[in-house]
Amino acid sequence: MQRLKIHPQGPTFSRIIAGAWRWRLSTETVERLIQTSLKEGITTFDHADIYGDHSNEEIFGETLRKQPALRDKMELVSKCGIKFPSDKRPKTWVKHYDTSKEHIIWSAENSLKMLHTDRLDLLLIHRPDPLLNPHEVAEAFSQLKQQGKVLHFGVSNFTRSQFYMLQKFLPIPLVTNQIEISLACIEPLLNGDLDLLTEQQASAMAWSPLAGGKLMAGERELFGKATKYNASYSQLSLAWLLTHPNNIFPVIGTTKAERITEAAKSLDIKLDRQDWFEMLQWATGKEVA
Ligand SMILES: NC(=O)c1ccc[n+]([C@@H]2O[C@H](COP(=O)([O-])OP(=O)(O)OC[C@H]3O[C@@H](n4cnc5c(N)ncnc54)[C@H](OP(=O)(O)O)[C@@H]3O)[C@@H](O)[C@H]2O)c1
Repeated sequence: MQRLKIHPQGPTFSRIIAGAWRWRLSTETVERLIQTSLKEGITTFDHADIYGDHSNEEIFGETLRKQPALRDKMELVSKCGIKFPSDKRPKTWVKHYDTSKEHIIWSAENSLKMLHTDRLDLLLIHRPDPLLNPHEVAEAFSQLKQQGKVLHFGVSNFTRSQFYMLQKFLPIPLVTNQIEISLACIEPLLNGDLDLLTEQQASAMAWSPLAGGKLMAGERELFGKATKYNASYSQLSLAWLLTHPNNIFPVIGTTKAERITEAAKSLDIKLDRQDWFEMLQWATGKEVA
């Protein structure tokens, strides 16, 4: 498995990242998914405070509680800033965003507790918050970094102007923007989102790289390529993302160990430029101008 720095001053991650959004599973199953990921060299795990109605970090953390030595074999990403009504959050009555200094620090510290770790490798602001005060975010990030609780920071689903604005107020670089990118969501390749990150020497993290499984409906149409590359359609879809010069890090979401193994092999596929464009054409329904 290839390992790359996501930013010159950022963490080194496995090129394929395992996302825990759908891992609201038994602790035994999650332990198996963690072990399979690590065996395949997928050492980076993507969390958020809210995943699984605030349960998934705790389920994942059970494995680290039982086997603390695993922590040094992995990198942990989490997110904060979304709040929604839940039995676990009785004081919240409406879905909203909270990027106040107090909440960022509370959420990061809670993630550490749930995950049974002393540090996050990367903390992301989950969604752009219209009430985001960049001074408060800067203070929260500085405090967490200075205390060694969070090593690096980034954002998710930010527009280019939101990214620039926040970066302007921070003494440290935002090392990524985690955004939706796939053959079913190609806008970031065309609207400047990836250009901005490349200019900032940051790689994107691509969420839902298989469009949450919806892409698999196109399997038959690209069967010719599957034969040519001796690869599955999901592997080709990931290879298509991996080909981009931004060094995109796909965040896969499967709950099946065998599909983690399958995804890890997508790095072996070297897509021909014409095949890449043919897949783009398939995705957009038209040839390039
Ligand atoms: N920052 C954000 O706002 C944001 C938003 C969404 C997601 N994320 C992150 O991105 C991660 C991935 O999102 P995602 O789950 O939508 O990603 P995905 O990899 O595009 O989709 C995974 C889904 O596709 C299904 N699937 C069907 N056929 C598959 C195949 N051949 N290979 C693999 N999966 C197949 C999986 O089912 P099985 O489980 O049955 O394999 C699973 O339900 C999340 O876990 C989370 O960490 C971030």
